Amino acid sequence: MKNRARNDDDIRSRTSFNKNWKFFLGDESNAKSPTYNDLKWRKLTLPHDWSIEGKFDEKNPAKPEGGGLPTGIGWYRKGFIAPANFKNRLITIEFDGVYKNSKVWVNGKYLGKRPYGYSSFSYEISKFLKTGKNIIAVKVDNSAQPDSRWYSGSGIYRNVWLTSTAKVAVSNWGTFITTNNSGKLDVQTQIQNKTLKSQSVLVINSVYSSAGKLLIKSKPQTLKVDTSGTAVNGTLDIKNPTLWSVENPYQYKLVTQILQSGKVIDTYETKFGIRSFNFDAQKGFSLNGKPMKILGVCLHHDLGALGAAINVRAMERQLEMMKAMGANAIRTAHNPPAPEFLDLCDKMGFLVMDEAFDMWVKKKTKNDYHLNFPQWHKSDLEDMIKRDRNHPSIILWSIGNEIREQFDSTGMAITKELVGIVKNLDKTRPVISALTETKAEKNFIYQANALDIYGLNYNHKLYKDFPKNYPGVKFLATETTSALETRGFYDTADTIRRWPKDGKTKFTEGNSEWSASAYDNVSAYWGSTHEETWAAAKKYDHVSGLFVWTGFDYLGEPLPYPWPARSSYFGIVDLAGFPKDSYYMYQSEWTNKPVLHILPHWNWKQGKSVDVWTYYNNADEVELYLNGKSLGKRSKQGDELHVLWNVNFEPGTLKALSRKNGKEVLIREVKTAGDPAKIELIADRKNIKADGKDLSFVTVRILDAAGNVVPNADNLVDFKIDGVGFIAGVDNGFQASVEPFKANYRKAFHGLCLAILQSTEKTGTIKLTATSAGLVSSSIIINTGK
Ligand code: GAL
Repeated sequence: MKNRARNDDDIRSRTSFNKNWKFFLGDESNAKSPTYNDLKWRKLTLPHDWSIEGKFDEKNPAKPEGGGLPTGIGWYRKGFIAPANFKNRLITIEFDGVYKNSKVWVNGKYLGKRPYGYSSFSYEISKFLKTGKNIIAVKVDNSAQPDSRWYSGSGIYRNVWLTSTAKVAVSNWGTFITTNNSGKLDVQTQIQNKTLKSQSVLVINSVYSSAGKLLIKSKPQTLKVDTSGTAVNGTLDIKNPTLWSVENPYQYKLVTQILQSGKVIDTYETKFGIRSFNFDAQKGFSLNGKPMKILGVCLHHDLGALGAAINVRAMERQLEMMKAMGANAIRTAHNPPAPEFLDLCDKMGFLVMDEAFDMWVKKKTKNDYHLNFPQWHKSDLEDMIKRDRNHPSIILWSIGNEIREQFDSTGMAITKELVGIVKNLDKTRPVISALTETKAEKNFIYQANALDIYGLNYNHKLYKDFPKNYPGVKFLATETTSALETRGFYDTADTIRRWPKDGKTKFTEGNSEWSASAYDNVSAYWGSTHEETWAAAKKYDHVSGLFVWTGFDYLGEPLPYPWPARSSYFGIVDLAGFPKDSYYMYQSEWTNKPVLHILPHWNWKQGKSVDVWTYYNNADEVELYLNGKSLGKRSKQGDELHVLWNVNFEPGTLKALSRKNGKEVLIREVKTAGDPAKIELIADRKNIKADGKDLSFVTVRILDAAGNVVPNADNLVDFKIDGVGFIAGVDNGFQASVEPFKANYRKAFHGLCLAILQSTEKTGTIKLTATSAGLVSSSIIINTGK
């Protein structure tokens, strides 16, 4: 037909394949059969994590280390109508991640398996499709436990997509753009051809500004694509490019078009950024020629009460909080993240250390990935690099965390092999591994002499002499700290405590509250407090940066506490997203905005001697007043990162005032609270999208009659929802709570709890009402719109 308008679907479509799945928790080997009757199965929308829906139990095979939630086997099925024209097209199903051991069938035909739960993978299914209804079945097997050293989640916990393209098209992850800061782009494009003969095509690359303006278009390149696929290289020049940076994360878009007989048969879009960076053995890290320290945090992938099921808003909220604290970098511990997480880092301006593995051949637990490493590491590592190498945020590829092979000679060959795999696909980024063996001659990963940067975990006392001990070697503190803290719990001590004390002694200290002090005075024995670590990293330019363990508490690894502890104590922010006090230490050091933070709360026994700390910046001194009477001025001396007063408690108002050149900068007050009297609800966002995914995080505060947060309130709060939304999860940040996350109630913990509201696809309002025996209730309205 002459001049037929082609709509995008005719060229390439990539649509969400998340809706209308059926789920069964348990094993049903017949479920792969297209005739299996799944009528009784539960209907759900992906992403989905069945573990987070379960009950905490010490006896769950994942153990408290794995989060203490159920694992097992689950099946997913989905009936769908094949896309029009599928016989002449390539139809591909893409899974961003399934934890773990997934097997996939379409219409009873086996497509393949993917053991590693963090890899993205796809299957071409056109040849198995039929007109009318088709059935996809996915078996997920997370039954072999113990597996992960942290909470993994179970199920199809990331997005699924259905892609339709012409038989000659850009391959999945088929573009690779390398740039330099003067705007020269090298574009590699991999084109596949699933017809039976070689095809002649034209390739055109165009670059658009972030506002969508066409900046440059290449001349058409003529190409013969044979049936095994063909790679093509091209170059483009952008005049005076806007560079990507953490302050201005500017992205361009490359649009690759394939034409045949004058018609566009494929359009493939790739976002990218232009930036350069450098690691220097003496001077540390620089971005676009500007020296800066990498101020990073490690993050596991779980989203607290939402489990592992990815949600873009929940990830964005985490990153917003890290940004506001002053962090500029994230380490995706210890595995490839969801693609949307990297998109957010590109967009929000975070540097990323993208990590592949937590183990190689030698195990950390009985059923972990070491079982699959020999057969799968090449595909898993290659797929991570191919999927992620256009993200401007990524500056480092990590081939592994605390890998056991660093301790024996087998580490050398594997290191060389893995570095080779990475370099073969991307020579523009350094390869690193997070090491713990500090003696070079005993560290076989280091001995392989294949890594670009020495990545050291912990051992902050070695930072100083690193240049002497490793002359000319570039250095990054890949993991630090492991301080232990519970939000709102304060316990003074004369010396810093190391819990556990060492690798041999059973942990018996602590307290009956399953809480570690928020005074930043406890750490694991291999770690250090936040202040000890930052003081060391800050001092030396040769320390390119650090990744604090961890930005947020995460499910699992509740060390050093026994059951019922089931989530970690390492976060700067608790599992519910409430900052612990150390958050403000970082904020005072890592940002320029004025900070003054006072701790602890002001509810103690009359006469008790209480340490009062403040973190501050942009000021010369802080003066503390109790009930209007000055308790003196303090200024940070030497390496100090806070100032301290020892105060005999009297109820009333404690006020801190910071001054610069004698002028007031900030005032912070904390008041003795009375008994719990009422509930206050504060939403992070009152207007959210009616897309069935967006979230409003509602903080619940227990207040006294005068409006002060009651610091030890643990009232049980009941929630009621009216309107077009539902409760996606509840939490209070307490690491040893075994209340369920999927519930319409939660006890407050140190005065706070959280309700996470999720929209449906209907526009309107969501009304949340919170009640609690003896307290004045409260409600809040969230609007949902298109
Ligand atoms: C590190 C390890 C992390 C976490 C941390 C807890 O050695 O790399 O995954 O286990 O210890 O302190």
